[in-house]
Amino acid sequence: MRNPPNIAIAGVTGAVGQEFLRILEQRDFPFASVKMLASARSAGKTVVFKGDTYTIEELTEDSFDGVDIGLFSAGGSISKKYAPIAAAKGCVVVDNSSAFRMDPNTPLVVPEVNPQDIDKHNGIIANPNCSTIIMNVPVWPLHQAVGVKRVVVSTYQAASGAGAAAMAELEQQARDWAAGNPLTQTIFGRQYIWNLFSHNSDIDQATGYNVEETKMIKETRKIFHCDAIRVAATCVRVPVLRAHCESINLTFDKPLGAEDARAILEAAPGVTVVDDRAMNKHPEPLEASHKDDVLVGRIRADLSQDAGYGLELFVSGDQIRKGAALNAVQIAELLLERVAV
Ligand code: A2P
Repeated sequence: MRNPPNIAIAGVTGAVGQEFLRILEQRDFPFASVKMLASARSAGKTVVFKGDTYTIEELTEDSFDGVDIGLFSAGGSISKKYAPIAAAKGCVVVDNSSAFRMDPNTPLVVPEVNPQDIDKHNGIIANPNCSTIIMNVPVWPLHQAVGVKRVVVSTYQAASGAGAAAMAELEQQARDWAAGNPLTQTIFGRQYIWNLFSHNSDIDQATGYNVEETKMIKETRKIFHCDAIRVAATCVRVPVLRAHCESINLTFDKPLGAEDARAILEAAPGVTVVDDRAMNKHPEPLEASHKDDVLVGRIRADLSQDAGYGLELFVSGDQIRKGAALNAVQIAELLLERVAV
């Protein structure tokens, strides 16, 4: 890999693609050249990056010639087809889709948790599911301290997880509602504003778990390298634009007081503690939006469990940023550090 690298962004017109550009610029990510890729629908349109105007190209099999790092967020079927093609040409793909996450030959990485796994890549590194990342960042330091035996998580997920079109539809429903017009309902097929509903991913008819919940369970085991950790998840879509919240209940192997847990979280990378009982000030999606860190609050002992063995948390993290684009760019930064050594 060259350093500075030639980079390509697959899905640059999407919600995560646009965030890739903002984060690469904000972090001054080094690059020799950058290719902006999307579907044929967008080819010929332009995007501005670091003050320069780039023409969007249609993503094809030839897009990755001479490219060192590909940041992919154009959906699972595009990743399935093009990530192996890019990897065969020597490009390292950081893939935001679920296509390769559970492939045993593909590392699944949250840089605050398992950066060492990057070294095992075969040309593709998977970026975990957004809800998984937002949960794993605060749970990992507690797991390292005392061992997490069980997690019960309930999510409050923003529109952004379903892409730019879902965010646009939520905004459109707000305008439709205010104007007294019938609501546009093309993405979720239902009223979203003033409502919430079980996550829109497919439900396994035998277990009743939806795909999002299953991702949180399986991906956490893989990222933590811990098959023993038990995760029960309930995933819900709420009418928020871009930051997810999660209620997280933990059961530990060894006792840990709430004050000690708070100290661990305050020192943890990627975490900002927002936990003011007197002011009832805790993580909120509007405050988490556009921030790098996962906000963590409501840190308290679970009084229904044996003393010290249970903890409650409420967290909020920007789904597009740490849940997707930032995590991927952090992985790319780790790749470059390895080239520099
Ligand atoms: P386009 O805007 O040209 O359709 P989101 O997740 O926010 O919905 O964004 C999806 C991203 O994936 C967009 O950048 C979209 O580009 C891109 N995309 C969708 N289908 C294709 C395709 N067939 N080839 C390349 N990019 C695609």
